[in-house]
Amino acid sequence: MQDLFSDLIPVLPERETLADGALLLRGQALGSEKELIASLTEITMQAPFRHMTTPGGFTMSVAMNNCGPLGWVSDRSGYRYSPVDPQTGNNWPEMPDCFLQLAQNAAAKAGYKNFVPDACLINRYEPKNKLSLHQDKDEKSPEHPIVSVSLGLPATFQFGGLKRTDPVLKYALHHGDVVVWGGPSRLYYHGITPLKEGEHPLLGRCRINLTFRKAA
Ligand code: SIN
Ligand code: FE2
Repeated sequence: MQDLFSDLIPVLPERETLADGALLLRGQALGSEKELIASLTEITMQAPFRHMTTPGGFTMSVAMNNCGPLGWVSDRSGYRYSPVDPQTGNNWPEMPDCFLQLAQNAAAKAGYKNFVPDACLINRYEPKNKLSLHQDKDEKSPEHPIVSVSLGLPATFQFGGLKRTDPVLKYALHHGDVVVWGGPSRLYYHGITPLKEGEHPLLGRCRINLTFRKAA
């Protein structure tokens, strides 16, 4: 029986190069999923998810919070990194060790040694939510990579080039997948297409994305 059906199960490579400097590590976060989710619950109790406002006055559909010394914030005055959560007036929750370990191990596998992120943006997508094509360019240390961890419902990740009009490749990201991009592709346009409806056994009706950066 096994042989009859084995052809039908898509076998995805464990690591896939997306571009020069960019690597997809499938299942990299699975070993620490329980710890990651427990830490996430703690963080969310101190810094609740919220829908930030863009400088243009739109409310973002993706809910966000942060942990670590710096957090990414957006409001009518622009995008920036702040040590303080504007909603609570407190510092952002500490970055848990299991977050840091995962980010550093993934970066090292992609060839980025000594990655010490000082910011972890936590994105929560519900079905239909998307993140339009954008560049991550609010960081002062673009020599460091971006490490992006996917948990919960699957999503389609778009990865383009240095120009918004460059062709975009699409990759399915599943629970536990980690994407690292830096060096020549550090400023590549990327985004998430509208999330499909679904229910994840550990996280329910949502996708969580952790994005680690060296912002300062
Ligand atoms: C981001 O670009 O900040 C997040 C990408 C993702 O959700 O995978
Ligand atoms: Fe981004």
